[in-house]
Amino acid sequence: MGVVGVLTGGGDCPGLNAVIRGVVCRAEEHGFDVVGIRDGWEGLMTDRVVPLDRDDVRGILGRGGTILGTSRMDPYVHGDGLASCEKTLNSNGIDRIVVVGGDGTLRSAMGLADEGLHVIGVPKTIDNDIAGTDVTFGFETAVQIATDAIDRLATTAEAHNRVVVVEVMGRTKGWIATHAGIAGGADYVIVPEFEYDIDEVVNTIRSRHRSGRRYSIVVVGEGIEPPPGYDTGEAKKDAFGFERLGGVAYQVAAAIEDQTNFETRVSVLGHIQRGGTPVASDRVLATRLGVAAADFAAKDLSNVMVAVRGTEIVPVPIQEACADIRGVPEDLFATARTFFG
Ligand code: F6P
Repeated sequence: MGVVGVLTGGGDCPGLNAVIRGVVCRAEEHGFDVVGIRDGWEGLMTDRVVPLDRDDVRGILGRGGTILGTSRMDPYVHGDGLASCEKTLNSNGIDRIVVVGGDGTLRSAMGLADEGLHVIGVPKTIDNDIAGTDVTFGFETAVQIATDAIDRLATTAEAHNRVVVVEVMGRTKGWIATHAGIAGGADYVIVPEFEYDIDEVVNTIRSRHRSGRRYSIVVVGEGIEPPPGYDTGEAKKDAFGFERLGGVAYQVAAAIEDQTNFETRVSVLGHIQRGGTPVASDRVLATRLGVAAADFAAKDLSNVMVAVRGTEIVPVPIQEACADIRGVPEDLFATARTFFG
């Protein structure tokens, strides 16, 4: 019938292997051959491709990372778009691809689709901020890891009568912070979407400790602004020029300690939130998305991504994912706020 290529791009995310398995097994049912493209767009630009069948994807459902590898290379930044991929597509007979990636990867997928390649996108990020879909796989796993960390930090904080500032990922959006804050019973949550007042944070912690509580947990999203007067002005970039976030919790902790004299510690959870096995709900979601992507490819759809709308998986234009970044709504954050202090 044809050859489906599948690739994973951008940062990894728990559930990628479940998506790959879903694509391979369903595409086989439709009569396609499937090939895996190594290291995201890089493999498509440099002809690094491996055949994949049902046997190749046995045992990977619960494994973290991606069996195909990933990279932040991009056919439009580091090449000439479709022209840079044609050698690989032609020599392997690939006539449609499933692209599993975040907004950057999906933007390039849309470019290739506009140039005529059959492309199905699968939105991926632990940050849960991709527009056009209600939720992304990997998010629930990251929230579970962050919640487990908060539970653990709370007991050591209580033993020592300390404040702990826990920093979670999420880039410019506070989905992980808000959900983990609610699930972990955080005493304050700070997210990039909503301005915060460090004096209010400090006062909340002070009155909590005055009323006899022995510890406080403050959850911060990595993308928040540092408190006034604590900005070091250091912006780090990765090898591809993307801003590297991480560490703002130290500035928040310094402000809290300076103003309260309460002993304050920091825990930056970092990549631990992306590693290891996906939770059951992410395995199910990722599997459904992989299967739906193969179904949409078999229907000759293109330039669409598999999106969650309520309980359904539906095709939506990739354009929708690229048009916006989805933030935490006010009412959800208000739920977290109810439990501050
Ligand atoms: O977008 C997913 C994400 O995990 C962000 O939450 C985080 O800021 C970023 O990727 C980290 O990227 P890297 O793996 O390049 O350090």
